Amino acid sequence: MSREPTAGLILAAGKGTRMKSEIPKALHPVAGMPMVELVSRAVRGAGIPRPTVVVGHGGDAVIEGLGDGYDFVWQREQRGTGHAVMMAAEALRHHHGPLLVTPGDTPLLSSETLARLIEAYHAESAQVSMATFVTVEPGGYGRIVRDEEGQVAQIVEDRDATPQQKALLEVNPAVYCFDCQLLLEVIQGLDSNNAQGEVYLTDAIAAIHSRGGKIVAETFDDPDEFMGVNDRWQLAEASRILRLRILRKHAMNGVTIVDPSSSYITMDVEIEPDALIEPMTVIEGNTRIGAGARIGPNAWVKDSVIGQDCRVFMSHVDQATMAEGSRCGPFSNLRPGTRLGAGVKIGNFVEVKNSEIGQATAISHLTYIGDATVGSGANIGAGTITCNYDGFAKHRTKIGNGAFIGSNSTLVAPVEIGDNGFVAAGSVITKGVPEGALGVGRARQEVREGWVNSWKAKKSSPE
Ligand code: UD1
Ligand code: MG
Repeated sequence: MSREPTAGLILAAGKGTRMKSEIPKALHPVAGMPMVELVSRAVRGAGIPRPTVVVGHGGDAVIEGLGDGYDFVWQREQRGTGHAVMMAAEALRHHHGPLLVTPGDTPLLSSETLARLIEAYHAESAQVSMATFVTVEPGGYGRIVRDEEGQVAQIVEDRDATPQQKALLEVNPAVYCFDCQLLLEVIQGLDSNNAQGEVYLTDAIAAIHSRGGKIVAETFDDPDEFMGVNDRWQLAEASRILRLRILRKHAMNGVTIVDPSSSYITMDVEIEPDALIEPMTVIEGNTRIGAGARIGPNAWVKDSVIGQDCRVFMSHVDQATMAEGSRCGPFSNLRPGTRLGAGVKIGNFVEVKNSEIGQATAISHLTYIGDATVGSGANIGAGTITCNYDGFAKHRTKIGNGAFIGSNSTLVAPVEIGDNGFVAAGSVITKGVPEGALGVGRARQEVREGWVNSWKAKKSSPE
């Protein structure tokens, strides 16, 4: 029998009062990714390509943050999770399959869990399948109330629960798969007669039960996965759990993580086996790291491609690429648009921006290279500065293959040093130096023999 496809609804309109933030709760990052995006990845991974997201508080920012690939519906006033579902009724009017509903504030949810709920819904021909878990700390969660036959009959919110109900340890993580049309029908009949004066989605469970609908509870063992983030401490805790999961995944793939407690790697980073991640290292965004590379200690790498056997030691690398065997640090700053060829060496207090550095070139100390193209096998001496900015526009510097730039030289762009060109130390170069030529741009040195003694004599003789 062919199954109706499952639709997805993510509730992300809430203000998140307990976060005490100007930023909508859904956009707070967990291990570097907005929590609503983590939830929606899990929903997509369960086979729902285009989930609907209910937005409200900070909705424009949430829509912008999530981008394409979603349908959005607005809940202008946040009058409860049931009310949020009502706002999506029009969008879901023609959907006759199951509807997966998740909160937007449970960032550790997995696709497997959601797929298991969808599977149970079909396998049991249920009207609802829902997750539950048992915890010794049920405070804050809705409690699962079962009937004499052991079937889920009702969910009671913490704030509405009687002392007996509060003692129940089976709780509601708020992840459900509903018969969509049935949910839309029963939701119309719910009231807000409760402690919070809200329309609760949880009340749909009692309504479906009283109509004789079949409610299947899937009980899960890992309560971490359902952790709701309602305040900053829970945010930190969720980040810690996710961070360790990410590190573990890399370790299992053959990456050495020297110190999991001080390594921060965000979701989408790719690392090849036999790379080594030293302590106090942050690797973020869309970064790829090759086999045998060694990152850290004390490194921060973002949106960069680090080739095989590279070394990033106490340095900052942002939107840069490093080809095989190149290295930087300590205290290098590779800024956006930096492209290092194979075997390049960038040393201490060297800043490189929007520049291409050819194979095996060395820039070892105290240098700024901006908007430059540097050939291969060149040597850039300590204290070299490309003056790329004239106060109005940026200009490029070109340095050829095998060039040698003497220490403390200033290259005023636009300017070009040809292949194998030399620049004398301490030069200010404003004109091009052709291939194989020497550019000298400094005051000529004078030597005055015996000058010191005659000067001292002059100073000490009486007038
Ligand atoms: C909810 C459940 C509770 C469950 C808990 C699990 C209800 C009534 N309660 O409580 O049983 O144990 O989640 O974490 O559903 N939202 C809206 N519009 C609103 C209100 C909320 O979109 O008007 C969204 C929020 O943005 C959030 C989600 O719904 O992503 C849950 O809301 P929240 O206020 O955090 O509910 P809980 O008190 O955690
Ligand atoms: Mg919550």
